Formats: sequence, structure tokens, C-alpha cells
Amino acid sequence: MAAASSSLLILHPRLTLFATTLRPLSLFTHHFSSTTPHHPNATGRSISLSSPPSDFAQKIDVNPPKGTRDFPPEDMRLRNWLFHNFREVSELFGFEEVDYPVLETESLYIRKAGEEIRDQLYCFEDKGNRRVALRPELTPSLARLVIQKGKSVPLPIKWFAIGQCWRYERMTRGRRREHYQWNMDIIGVPDVTGEAELISSIVTFFKRIGITAKDVGFKISSRKVLQEVLSLYSVPEASFAKACIIIDKMGKIPMEEIKKELKLVDLSNEAIEDLLQVLSMKSLTELEEKLGDAGEAVRELKQLFSLAEKFGYSEWIQFDASVVRGLAYYTGIVFEGFDREGKLRAICGGGRYDRLLSTFGGDDIPACGFGFGDAVIIELLKERQLIPEVPLEVENIVCSLDPDLQGAAATVATLLREKGQCVDLVLENKPLKWVFKRAARINARRLILVGKSEWERGMVSVKILSTGEQNQINLDDLQ
Ligand code: HAM
Repeated sequence: MAAASSSLLILHPRLTLFATTLRPLSLFTHHFSSTTPHHPNATGRSISLSSPPSDFAQKIDVNPPKGTRDFPPEDMRLRNWLFHNFREVSELFGFEEVDYPVLETESLYIRKAGEEIRDQLYCFEDKGNRRVALRPELTPSLARLVIQKGKSVPLPIKWFAIGQCWRYERMTRGRRREHYQWNMDIIGVPDVTGEAELISSIVTFFKRIGITAKDVGFKISSRKVLQEVLSLYSVPEASFAKACIIIDKMGKIPMEEIKKELKLVDLSNEAIEDLLQVLSMKSLTELEEKLGDAGEAVRELKQLFSLAEKFGYSEWIQFDASVVRGLAYYTGIVFEGFDREGKLRAICGGGRYDRLLSTFGGDDIPACGFGFGDAVIIELLKERQLIPEVPLEVENIVCSLDPDLQGAAATVATLLREKGQCVDLVLENKPLKWVFKRAARINARRLILVGKSEWERGMVSVKILSTGEQNQINLDDLQ
């Protein structure tokens, strides 16, 4: 039974001193930073822990290894917010969540096309002399699992995953040695309806977090463009993936270097010049004039742009023949999300990889997907001042007013938790000033005090912290 509790003021006069309205705290200072903050003991008390024996004592570096991050609570809340949006969007599109081990067999990543990702591999021999690697991406694991599942999974498969990936990268803004990647993949759909759906999901995600088509765009092309150009010059099939990897370095290394490398994979000067001319194209009409409309490259790209209109995201996408992507396995449409201000590296990227499964000994199934990292998007949100406030929120704080009532406070906390209420139970005998400070820090809505005289009557004092309203409530009526 709830009753207005003026007695609370009489019983616990200290309360009124601190009956202030609580405001959410701005806790985001780190935004996925890699520094380890120093947290003084909130109570100001010194906690004495027994020291380890001196022969074990060593001063450790409190920073995580270079390029990796800790996630203290405020950064973890932001990460959870981001992942929550990844998950919700994936589920909006009907995808199922999967995951794979962070440690995989090294051979999963050994491709012969000279990809950068190969040189960046964290790989080693385990204690059983097996070559293993920390996954640098999720796609090979996905392919492995699809082969393992075989015909037991009906097609199309629509899976998403959010997993940590490891690459020994040169560190730049938003590029780290570990990052989390959100992947969505469709297995078993040969049409560009697959790619169109995937881009739609990324656009949906951007819109949800406040990013617009003015901030971000997608550059889209197809590896079939290169294939069709190279087929005019009888370039061997084996050179195709290698040529794509070399072309992906355009803008990162001098053009003379690119030409030299292309010659090494059996491209003639004439083929190289023609290729470079096509790669500079930014209009589908121009591409169509060059390749004609009979080939798959132009047909699929046109279909994708037409579908984009129907989905309603035309303003987000543009044709750009220079996009080829740096991974060997892509076979068709490729795309990359980019920052229109040009300050950041690719925000996300993906494409079609219809022949990856056979490289692992499985039967090929048409597939497409994308990877979206957590680090670049946080940088972009910072740039646009769109980092959300995600404050810590624990609905209730429960505190005993007498050391003898610690057990009673535990009973109250259990009761509330069983009803699904979040409770921060004060575990030591603390002054009320401390309790109020803590309540403000955790953005508690209610303070529940267990005092001797109320407890004897089966009641507790409940204070709504935003209004200061205080009531004595029967334990059975506590919700
Ligand atoms: P990726 O382009 O290598 O593609 O990576 C995808 C995204 O992961 C990048 O656009 C970026 O957001 C993020 N990323 C990659 N490396 C780093 C890094 N060192 N630090 C921070 N973020 C990074 C793939 O990995 C493909 N497996 C994607 C895919 C899935 N294709 C088909 N399905």
C-alpha cells in the first residue's frame, strides 16, 4: 500500500538535503578510444589488496597492444548502441545471425592473387603444429560453414554476423589492428536483386543513425567491366584476380608502378592503356558506348541502378569504374561506401563472389555480401557530431540505512529483480550523500531505502528522484 510519507523526512532528515532533480550525465569521453582511463576509487577510500609474492611482481604496460582497444563502460555502451542498430537492420531485412571462431585455419586466407590482407595476417603455429590465423575478415568462414552445412540449409541463405577481425595494418584514422565488422551475405541468389537489397540495408542503417546521402555515397562498379575489357586482349584467366588487386592500389601507389605490375601479370601496353581509360569512367552511358549493351557488366549495372530507384536510394549511389575492391574473390558487382568530404577511408564495402566456394573444394553457389567496420563509422559520427548520448541507466538504487539491514536490502533487490527491474544494490554502509551521488551517476529513477521502522512494518521508503516525491510502500506492492 502506498502512502504519502512525510515520516520519511522525519525518519531520515538527511534525505531532503540532497533531494535534487537528477540530470543524465554526459559520459562519452572516449568514443572507442584506445587509451585506458584511470578510475579513482569512487568512494575515495583506499582498498587494501594483498600484494602478490615479490618474485611474481612486475610492472605491466596498462595500455592494450598497439592498434587494439579496451572498451571501458562508456565506450561499450556506444559499441552496444552501434551493434544494436546493425542487428535491428539485419533483422528488418529478414537475416539470421551467425558467428564463427576468431581463430581459423590459416589456409582459409591463403589466396594467390597478392592481396594486402595476406601480408596483414596474424598467423602462427599452435601447440599441435597447426598453422592458424586470427580471422582478418568473415567471408571465408561463412563460405566454410555454407560448405559444411551443404544441402541441409535451404537457399537463399541470408546471414549476418558481427565479429572481431584482426589485420596487421598501418594505422590511420579509423583503421586499426582489430576492428569489428558487420557482415550481411546472401547465398543462392544470382541476380543483382541481391546486391540491391544489401545496399538498401546499409542505407537503412545510415538513415537510422542520422547519416544522409549528403554525408555518404556508394561507388558502384562491376568486375565484369574489367573482364570484358581484358577479354578483348586474350589476357589469361589466371591474371584476372591479380590484375584487380593491382588496380585496387590505384591512388595508393604511383601510376608507373601500377603499369609495371600489370605488365608482370601478362597485360600488354595496349590492354593496360585501354583498361586505364575505362577505369576513369564515371558514367554508365559512357561505359555502354565502350562495351556495348550486350555484355553482362552493363546490363547488371543498369538493372542495379533501376532497382535503386524502386528501393528509393538513387541519390546515394554513383557509377565509378575505378572501384574494383582489394579482395581476390569478387566476380561481379562491387561497391564501397565513402565519406563525401573525403576525409575518411572506405566506410564499408562488398560485392558478388560467385566462385569462392569452389576455391575451398565446395560446389559454387552465387553469393554477395558486404563488410561494414565499427571504427570508420564512429569517426564519421564524430565528424558530423552525431555521436549519441547513451547514458548508464539503472532504474533503481536500493540502500539499507542500517548495517543490520543489509540482508533486508538484498531481499528488496531480489524482489525487484525478479519483477524485471534493474537494481543497483549498495553493498556497503554508505552515507546518504554518497548514495545520492551514485544515484545521479547511474541515472536511477527511484531510490529505495530500507530503514528499521519501515522494515519492521514490512515497508520500504521509495523516493522518485526526478520529483523528490517520497512514499512508504508495502513490500508486496513494490513493482
Ligand atoms: P573489406 O573492404 O576488406 O571487405 O572490409 C570491409 C570493411 O571493414 C571496410 O570497409 C572497413 O569499414 C572495415 N575494415 C577493414 N579493415 C579495417 C581495419 N583495419 N580497421 C578498421 N576497419 C576496417 C571485407 O572484409 C569483405 N570480407 C566484406 C564482404 C563480406 N564481402 C562480401 N561479404
